[in-house]
Amino acid sequence: MNERKTLKINEQGHLEIGGADTVELAKAFSTPLYVFDEAYIRQMMSVYRDTLRKEYGENGLVLYASKAFSCQAIYRIADEEEIGVDVVSGGELYTALQAGFPAEKIYMHGNNKLDYEIGEALDAKIGCIVADAYSEIDKIDREGAKRGIVQDILLRINPGVEAHTHAFVQTATTDSKFGFSIADGTAERATAYAMQKKNVRLLGYHCHIGSQIFEKQSFVIAAGKVMDFAFAMKEKLGFTLKTLNLGGGFGIWYTDEDRKISPEGYAEYLQALIQEVKRKATEFSMELPFLVIEPGRSIVGEAGITLYTVGAIKEIPNVKTYLAVDGGMFDNPRYALYQSKYTPILANRANEKGTEVVSIAGKCCESGDILAVDVTLPKAASGDILAILSTGAYNYSMAMNYNRNKIPPCILVKDGKAEYIVRPQTYQDLVRNDCIPERLQKRGK
Ligand code: LLP
Repeated sequence: MNERKTLKINEQGHLEIGGADTVELAKAFSTPLYVFDEAYIRQMMSVYRDTLRKEYGENGLVLYASKAFSCQAIYRIADEEEIGVDVVSGGELYTALQAGFPAEKIYMHGNNKLDYEIGEALDAKIGCIVADAYSEIDKIDREGAKRGIVQDILLRINPGVEAHTHAFVQTATTDSKFGFSIADGTAERATAYAMQKKNVRLLGYHCHIGSQIFEKQSFVIAAGKVMDFAFAMKEKLGFTLKTLNLGGGFGIWYTDEDRKISPEGYAEYLQALIQEVKRKATEFSMELPFLVIEPGRSIVGEAGITLYTVGAIKEIPNVKTYLAVDGGMFDNPRYALYQSKYTPILANRANEKGTEVVSIAGKCCESGDILAVDVTLPKAASGDILAILSTGAYNYSMAMNYNRNKIPPCILVKDGKAEYIVRPQTYQDLVRNDCIPERLQKRGK
């Protein structure tokens, strides 16, 4: 089991998160339910923030990659922890601004930002837009000119480092939908292109090599390649690197097949990046750039669990036993999308030894609606509370209303007390945007 302090088993044999008994939470808030431990989120934000300050001074900013989990409360926490955020859509930007998040600490990403999204970003005066295509440089320049703004931008570049969870390979791949490739010369051409635009100020580069990556070396190699490229642009185009954003991607624990990284361990990832940037800057006699990182999953992933109630149990003799729960792919589509593995535990009998191999099925009309395959649990009964661990990232943010299931609410636990940060959906919410054309209206008799 996950050894993080925020999860423990109390005297009644119930799972606790952030000092709150999950069985009580299930009773009070009903299931399915996303539960977030505030202390864990703050600890991870502050570890990155403090490490950057200590090793690099004030010349940098940690951004929380809010696609991992976006709602107004998380932007408030990020603001209180004095970090920035990255957003990838008008919707995330709107949510951050509604929460009163300071616009100058917002970076905007996306491989196809729409005109109105760029307009909204400029109107809000956000800190920086990361351009991903020539057409975006044009759009930012055009929208900037309309408003009399010179917008700070970075170019997303593809350093040709492909990273996987358990291995890394360096390739000169140019087939990613993201960014300007260094290898085929587009990154250089885009630099020259952006430098001559009047309403954008090119500050530097961004790269992000992937997600759920454990190999420090993959990140370090990518950072080194971007610094090499920046130096080449200095030599060729007289370009001065002011800002370097090295993205996110640090892996988290889902099952015992994954490494369990302590907060200090995450600090070491950042330290390794900082060392490489400093090493290259010294080698090339370049000034140290303003350094940005943008972790998402490692900040919220292990801070969250999802609680379900076990319903139908289907035993197929000599084949499989399914425990069906009251949630499924509509609150966590990650198994359906990526065959992601998770660790479930029976929250109301958390002390009992596992004796049965079961699979956890959701309630959607879809065979692929599975939350975990062949996991060992104590013999479960209908009504047991099942917790799935490490669901804080890319679960709520990827949830949907398939089969018109209601997206579960999110609660935030602090010192054993829980409050809503996203309220439950209602059936009225589900039909809110439906309309029935006049010709289809039910006629009275
Ligand atoms: N920056 C950029 C530009 C990104 O594209 C991402 C994630 C991040 C930062 C944050 O990466 P993190 O620290 O969270 O790994 N839905 C997938 C994950 C997609 C990640 C996309 N980009 C999943 O559920 O695994």
